[in-house]
Amino acid sequence: MWLAPLLFIFVIGLIIVLDAKKPRNFPPGPAWWPIVGSLPEVSRWRKKLGTLTMAATFLAKQHGKGKLVGLRVGNDVQVVLASAELVKEMATKPELDGRPRGPFYRHRTWGLRRGVMLTDDEFWRDQRRFLTRHLRDFGLGKASQMETIIMREVQALTDYFKTAISNTADGKALIPLHNAFGVSVLNTIWAMLAGKRYDPDDAELCTLQKILSDMFASMDMTGCLFNHFPILRYVLPEASGYNYYMTCHQKLLQFLQAELLRHKTTYMEDSPRDFMDVFIAESNTRKDEDSNYTDIQLMAICMDMFMAGSDTTNKSLSFGFLHFLRQPHVVRKIQEEIDSVVGRERPVTLDDRHNMPYTEAAVNESIRVFAAHAIAVPHRAMADSTLMGYFIPKDTILAVNYNGLFMNEELYEDPWTFKPERFLNEKNEVSLPDHFIPFGVGRRRCMGDTLAKTNIFLFISNLLQTFNFENPKGRPLPDPFPIEGITPFTQLYDGVISLRD
Ligand code: HEM
Ligand SMILES: *[C@@H]1O[C@H](CO)[C@@H](O)[C@H](O)[C@H]1NC(C)=O
Ligand SMILES: *[C@@H]1O[C@H](CO)[C@@H](O)[C@H](O)[C@H]1NC(C)=O
Ligand SMILES: *[C@@H]1O[C@H](CO)[C@@H](O)[C@H](O)[C@H]1NC(C)=O
Repeated sequence: MWLAPLLFIFVIGLIIVLDAKKPRNFPPGPAWWPIVGSLPEVSRWRKKLGTLTMAATFLAKQHGKGKLVGLRVGNDVQVVLASAELVKEMATKPELDGRPRGPFYRHRTWGLRRGVMLTDDEFWRDQRRFLTRHLRDFGLGKASQMETIIMREVQALTDYFKTAISNTADGKALIPLHNAFGVSVLNTIWAMLAGKRYDPDDAELCTLQKILSDMFASMDMTGCLFNHFPILRYVLPEASGYNYYMTCHQKLLQFLQAELLRHKTTYMEDSPRDFMDVFIAESNTRKDEDSNYTDIQLMAICMDMFMAGSDTTNKSLSFGFLHFLRQPHVVRKIQEEIDSVVGRERPVTLDDRHNMPYTEAAVNESIRVFAAHAIAVPHRAMADSTLMGYFIPKDTILAVNYNGLFMNEELYEDPWTFKPERFLNEKNEVSLPDHFIPFGVGRRRCMGDTLAKTNIFLFISNLLQTFNFENPKGRPLPDPFPIEGITPFTQLYDGVISLRD
């Protein structure tokens, strides 16, 4: 009689004990508790320090010599990397090139893993090759074509600012500067994908932007609660963020579907206008086979591009300008460089870049102060492997915590302060340390680093050529402390723009 319950308790007990056991030689980290794993410890430090990235940096210092920390959060076994050497070691091991497979990474596209950023293996290799090749045809990575696309946006934003200024009595317009770049940057990538641009105050696009930024604010790079504890999808669909995540993605898919339909109805066989047309052509030639060139795949690629290609550049610009308001002397030095190299009569072009080391260094520094609070797209071990001599079991999630690299005081003196000088040598040339790797390394490396740098350079230099940006009088300077999301947000802040005299 009493044997059955006893056996039951024994089995449950065994499961709980085994559940909390770490693999042998696993990277060091806080204890694993049954079911929740190391979540309580991570949450405690996240609350104390303010962000997940700072908590992970702290735990890596406490357990893994500042280089890495092994964690388990619900279902997911994770290793957070916080050193450039380890990022490079990871890149030497093809089995570490995978991407996670949890619900968070699948449910955006009806339970299928699609796109390029969150897929792996043969599927990813083929799609990444196709995307790289054909985005190039529409300008990605080609200096003169990118410059044309971006300068159209710079001009539109300049006109928009000028109009705002001309509507004021004193020539000083107050604008929400944190959000001044979203549409312009999205346009540069959307031009290549869908051959389309929007005005900064376009209603349809503002709706899309709102969906995107709400969605990005509601998650982090390692997935939401429902990813770590998949059962929450069913028992707590609201509280676990699952319903919200699905609603946002459905709205986004609707927007993309409408664009795809417009492309299909105006499609002309022989003259592809943009990446969408090329993709449609490819899917037509593969109609009979069990092809991977489907409508869902095309929409997943567009979603990847909104996140990887547009959000990151937007955030780098808004972090950069936040620091410009904090440190007027940086703005003055950039403006002096512009005045002496280019003057005021013509726009700054890409050819000027190599004569403008201080501005170039400010571009790098804008990327650093943004990435310093980001966790990169996680990798997944597709087979058992090792890192720094530790055992990495198959299906471990590997997340690069850029906070550990870019806020490391031994590598970046006074890391909270925006200092272009840190990237200049004695000869006043841009000189980057080899641990400055904001775009990753290896086969998974960022596909859009040149587009990102070109965007940031042309926006900063041309806007500072024409305008002054100042903190509103009587208000405290904007706080550089980030707000968490899938990528970090700046605090909301306003800026006063006026024409330079
Ligand atoms: C400041 C801006 C940017 C930063 C800091 C950045 C950084 C990164 C990082 C760290 C990764 C992951 C590398 C890895 O998994 O090892 C990545 C991947 C990626 N980036 Fe960027 N990126 C930026 C802008 C862009 C732009 C403008 C594009 C547009 C084409 C882009 C497209 C991608 C894609 C498609 C991937 C996924 C690649 C893959 O999984 O194979 N990124 N980026
Ligand atoms: C589509 O991708 C799968 C992997 O997800 C692969 O096995 C298959 O061969 C691909 N199909 C084609 C026609 O390339
Ligand atoms: C830093 O800036 C320079 C000039 O824009 C560029 O050549 C270099 O690639 C940048 N490095 C990184 C890692 O962003
Ligand atoms: C651009 O970045 C700012 C500040 O980080 C953010 O408030 C805004 O929502 C972003 N725009 C988009 C479309 O994500």
